[in-house]
Amino acid sequence: MRRYHVTTFGCQMNAHDSERIKGLLEELGLGEAPSQDEADVLVFNTCTIREKPDTRLAAHLGNARVLKERDPERVIAVGGCYAEAQRERIFDLYPFVDVAFGPGSIPHLADWVGAGGEGVARGSFGTGEERAFAGRLPLHRERRFQAWVQISMGCNSVCSYCIVPAVRGREVSRRPGEILSEVESLASEGVREVTLLGQNVNSYGRDVGSDFAELLRAVDAIEGLDRIRFTSPHPKDFRAPVIAAMAECEAVCEHAHLPLQSGSTRVLKAMRRTYSRDRYLRLVAELRATIPGLALTTDLIVGFPGETDAEFEETLSAVEEVGYDSAFTFVYSPRAGTEAASMADQVADEVKRERIERLVEVVQRVAEERNRERIGGVEEVLVEGVSRTDPALLRGRTRRNTTVNFAGTAAPGELVPVEIQHATSTTLRGVERAPVAA
Ligand code: 5AD
Ligand code: SF4
Repeated sequence: MRRYHVTTFGCQMNAHDSERIKGLLEELGLGEAPSQDEADVLVFNTCTIREKPDTRLAAHLGNARVLKERDPERVIAVGGCYAEAQRERIFDLYPFVDVAFGPGSIPHLADWVGAGGEGVARGSFGTGEERAFAGRLPLHRERRFQAWVQISMGCNSVCSYCIVPAVRGREVSRRPGEILSEVESLASEGVREVTLLGQNVNSYGRDVGSDFAELLRAVDAIEGLDRIRFTSPHPKDFRAPVIAAMAECEAVCEHAHLPLQSGSTRVLKAMRRTYSRDRYLRLVAELRATIPGLALTTDLIVGFPGETDAEFEETLSAVEEVGYDSAFTFVYSPRAGTEAASMADQVADEVKRERIERLVEVVQRVAEERNRERIGGVEEVLVEGVSRTDPALLRGRTRRNTTVNFAGTAAPGELVPVEIQHATSTTLRGVERAPVAA
């Protein structure tokens, strides 16, 4: 049997795309290989959001070249955002690559790998007119009780630092009926938690006569789901009906990932985020007032062109003011073709490095304070498996999306009450409690 291996970079959308790629290759009759070395078809599902994933990919492709030299029958396929961004150059940069495909052209992958998984037509496919949802493709899910569901593709925002709109194209919403029937079948297969995925979930539906609040309510009405998550919302489109739906829908988790990017209104404007610091903070206040126990997480960038020390300090103070439960922190990385990449006042690497260190420190302190407040409480945990750090413990996540390592006997996929006894900036530790009698 011919075997495939998929290496995934980047965001949850990419991880989900990889589940479709795997499902598709399995339908063609290929089995999964445990490593790149043992695979006949090597797929790299790439990311290009910052320079780092580009560099990591180059190292992986170095290995792929050696494997290809050893066995020229091997198929090397590069998909995802880097492939799309470099579609003109990819075969010059990496002549041993057989297939390149953009994130919108996964459904076409079968055409190259060939029916039965044999023979490859060397070529590339981009994200142009042919973009299609992969929703009808087979799906290879990593976990039986958790699933991602794509609700839209592309992005209509014009954030000046971001390459995503260029590689994933304009926003197109998936029809509500298609989304709901996918969620229904997942729920009937035993899925307890779904995460709705879109580049900007809050702008969902304008092109298909629906909206995100309506979609949340419809998904919540599906029998058998315990948890609904979504990522990512854009603060500019986060309006009252969605907040109300979050508060009223039982399965929708008390967590919002709300990318702030910068705490300075001037920088936000240069980023073209279209909200000010004040407006963001008002949204946070409204969310907190409506949804008790809400966890807030965010994305932050330091060293955007022109960012002054005082403006960077505003990001630090915003972290304190909001009190994030966690944050992804990034050093600004110029991406070719974006507006910000050609701005004159790029910040020196040294300054960026200092800023990110200070930011991480504040983020960790605030997150630890937030987590410590939870000690002594009992939280519902969805068990995911064995702890990564201590095999004697189980691991799971709370509704607020915090990882908990705990002593207990529950099986993966179960929801159990856990008493929280210890907290760090990133994880909680506790002990399983007997379920409260109804
Ligand atoms: N440089 C650094 N971080 C970036 N992000 C997006 N583009 C860039 C860039 N050019 C970050 C943003 C976004 C997250 C997914 O990645 O914070 O929310
Ligand atoms: Fe995801 Fe953006 Fe990376 Fe593409 S470039 S994989 S959309 S994070």
